[in-house]
Amino acid sequence: MVQFEKETIAGQWQSLDIENDLLSEAARSIGAGSATDAGRFWRLPTEHPDPIVLAGGIPDDTALPTEDLIDSFSKSIRDHFSDSLMYGGWFGYEGLRQLIADRQNKIEGTNLLPDNIIMHNGSSGCLENVCKAFVGPGDIAIVESPSYSGTVRAIRGFRAEVVEVPMDKEGINPDLFKETVESLVAQGKRVKLFYTIPDYHNPMGNVTTLEIRKEILEICAEHKILIAEDAAYTELYYDSPPPPSYYALSDGHGVIKMCSFSKILATGLRAGWIQARDELAEPLTKVRFDMGTSPLVHYALADLMESGKLDSHITSMRNLYKSKCRTMVDSLKKYCNPYIELEEPEGGYFLWVKCTQTKAFDLIRAAAEEGVVFPLGSIFYVDSSLDDSHFRLAFTRAPFEHLEEASRRIGKAFEKVLDIQH
Ligand SMILES: Cc1ncc(COP(=O)(O)O)c(C=O)c1O
Repeated sequence: MVQFEKETIAGQWQSLDIENDLLSEAARSIGAGSATDAGRFWRLPTEHPDPIVLAGGIPDDTALPTEDLIDSFSKSIRDHFSDSLMYGGWFGYEGLRQLIADRQNKIEGTNLLPDNIIMHNGSSGCLENVCKAFVGPGDIAIVESPSYSGTVRAIRGFRAEVVEVPMDKEGINPDLFKETVESLVAQGKRVKLFYTIPDYHNPMGNVTTLEIRKEILEICAEHKILIAEDAAYTELYYDSPPPPSYYALSDGHGVIKMCSFSKILATGLRAGWIQARDELAEPLTKVRFDMGTSPLVHYALADLMESGKLDSHITSMRNLYKSKCRTMVDSLKKYCNPYIELEEPEGGYFLWVKCTQTKAFDLIRAAAEEGVVFPLGSIFYVDSSLDDSHFRLAFTRAPFEHLEEASRRIGKAFEKVLDIQH
């Protein structure tokens, strides 16, 4: 008879040093952190009784099409009881993929078929799949500097070396990109991936020009560098759409486009898709072991798309975020004008603001005391010492009156740091 003692088992495990004796090398190279940050200092706590948080890239939840979602989910369970509640396969529900392919073909002039669309757990799930299929220890991944910190962390999880190349408001610098690639190749390194956010960048809010897209496509084709194009914000233009995607320009040769329902609809759906040519889609699906993502969500999304409700929601979000952006920019100009510089974005979720007279860290600390919380620009770099003057404001979630109040508080924070008395 085995003497089973729960306490003994607990004791054995409690004596283990998880950090040193259990964690994989990949996990160690990612570093600690929350689910979405870079494992670095993300935002400061505040004692303020009524803080305003402009930290995460999150849609306005008061504007979600809740009734439409309830209808679509109910209908999906009722009408597709069996299929929507079963495993859905690695690609996901074909009806949804057909709708996505048709819609993208109309927008982008592509020739996608349902099997060029692979459903995923948001754009993040797409990136993990791309890395799992194509990136390994010792490979180089180039990212824009700055870039979305979550991605940098994810690529590190595959033990690739992440190299950053500066970008300005036009996009990544193509000359520096070429130089970097050539120098890495000369060192015998394999540059596998270029991760880019060409439209309404996180954190910079800018759009990469058509010229730069073409130059980068040529360099990447010459050196066989896969472009992972993150189109999470592409549809959220305020007035006119961005230039054609890397995918459309190259007809998908050497490009994997990653799209998401998170920013155009709701982050909690955890739905996004990879757009890839057959020859790239095949290895992508072959390395998947997660049994796909939720068919119920796919059926509900298909219903929203078919009824036209998704398109009308996206149109109203473009208008809403354009007004929020305007409000934030106008109020920043009113309260902080001498202390900041910024480029007004033409779409998306973010303002990238430069402190002209203070260090961004001093500002965000004072702003937290005043009751506004937002991240420091340096967390969006691989080498955080590259920037001590920027901060990022995510203006989509907060109500209009908070945006104006946040700017007033940021203005007070600047005055505190600069010791300006009234
Ligand atoms: C550029 C970019 N890509 C991907 C993501 C993750 O989005 P998803 O919810 O689609 O995984 C974010 C989230 O902030 C983002 O800013």
